[in-house]
Amino acid sequence: MVTRRVDLRSDTVTKPTETMRAAMASAEVDDDVLGYDPTAARLETEMARIMGKEAALFVPSGTMANLICVLTHCQIRGSEVILGDYSHIHIYENGGISTIGGVHPRTVKNNEDGTMDINLIEEAIRDPSFEICYPTTRLICLENSHAHSGGRCLSVEYTDEVGDLAKKYGLKLHIDGARIFNASVALGVPVDRLVRAADSVTACLSKGLGAPAGTVIAGSKSFISKAKILRKTLGGAMRQVGVICAAALVALGENVGKLESDHKKAKILSEGLNKIEGLKINLASVETNIVYFDILEEVGITEIELVKKLEAHGILVMAEGRLKIRLVIHHQISEYDVQYTLSCIQKAVTGMKAENGGN
Ligand SMILES: Cc1ncc(COP(=O)(O)O)c(C=O)c1O
Repeated sequence: MVTRRVDLRSDTVTKPTETMRAAMASAEVDDDVLGYDPTAARLETEMARIMGKEAALFVPSGTMANLICVLTHCQIRGSEVILGDYSHIHIYENGGISTIGGVHPRTVKNNEDGTMDINLIEEAIRDPSFEICYPTTRLICLENSHAHSGGRCLSVEYTDEVGDLAKKYGLKLHIDGARIFNASVALGVPVDRLVRAADSVTACLSKGLGAPAGTVIAGSKSFISKAKILRKTLGGAMRQVGVICAAALVALGENVGKLESDHKKAKILSEGLNKIEGLKINLASVETNIVYFDILEEVGITEIELVKKLEAHGILVMAEGRLKIRLVIHHQISEYDVQYTLSCIQKAVTGMKAENGGN
C-alpha cells in the first residue's frame, strides 16, 4: 500500500496553499477585460517593479506569454526569430510562432549550459541587403533558467552581451523567464538586473513560485499596450481574473524566499543519485530545481519501468527520453521526501541489477 506521495514530475504540480485559497476567496475583483480588476492591476504593478520594466500584463500561461511577445515584436510578415534549438518556444509550444504567427524560426545550437554561442547568433542574423530572398531577423530569444539543460542559469554578463548584439543589429531581445526567479536566486542577481537587456520578459507564477496559474509579461508601456490587444485576440483576456492574481500575489510574498531551499534539496538529491551505482548524473548541471539523470544500460531497466516502480511507492517522476529521468523540486517537497525518493531509487536499481545477475 502506498503511504506517501512525492510528486517530482514538475514544479507545476503544486497545490494552492491555505493562504492562497483564503486570498482567492476574499479577492477584490472586477472586469479585467475592461481594465477594472484591482487585484490584477496590483499584481501587474508589482511584477513590473520586480522586473524593472515600465508595465506588465497577466496572461493565462507561459506558452501564450511567449507567443504574444514574439508576435508583438514581429508584426511584419516574413519576420524571423533566432532561438535555441532546445528552447521551450521551439520544442514545446506547438510551433505557435509559425502556425499562428507566421514567424519563421532560425535555430542556433543550445550548449549544455543553455547558452548559444554569441558568434553563432551573430552569424544567424540575416543580411538585409539580400531581403529579396531572406526573411528579416527581428528578434532574439533567450530562456533563463534553461529548462532542457536542467534548469541552468544564463549569467547577467551573457545576457547583456546578447542584448548588445541585438542593439547593434537593430533587433529586439525577449527572455522566456518561466523560471527567472530561480535563476535570480541561484545567481544572486536581482531579477530586474538579470533582465535589464531584454525588451520583453515573461515570468511564470505557476512554476517555482507555486501559484495555481498564470504568467506575467513585462516590457515598455507601448509594448504592453500592443501585447494586451494580442492577448484579447488569442482569447487570453479574462474577466474577474483577480481571483487567480490574488494567489499569485501570495506566491510572490511567500515563495520566492523558499527557492534557495528548493535548490539545496535539488543538490542533495543529485549528490545522492550520484552515489547510486548504475546511474549517471552531471552534478555541474544542477544549478536550480531541475535534476536529470541517466540509467546505465547495464542496469537492465528502462526509464518507463523505473517510473512505474517508483509510482508503486508513491513517487511520481517523468521519463524524458531513452534511459533519462527528470525530477523537479518545488516548495511542497521536503528533505524527507528527497531521502525517501533516493532510498526507493536505490532499491529499484539494486534490485534490478541483482535480477540481472549483477551485484
Ligand atoms: C522554459 C519554459 N517556458 C515556457 C513554458 C510554458 O509554460 P506553460 O506551461 O504555462 O504554458 C514552460 C513550461 O514548462 C517552460 O518550462
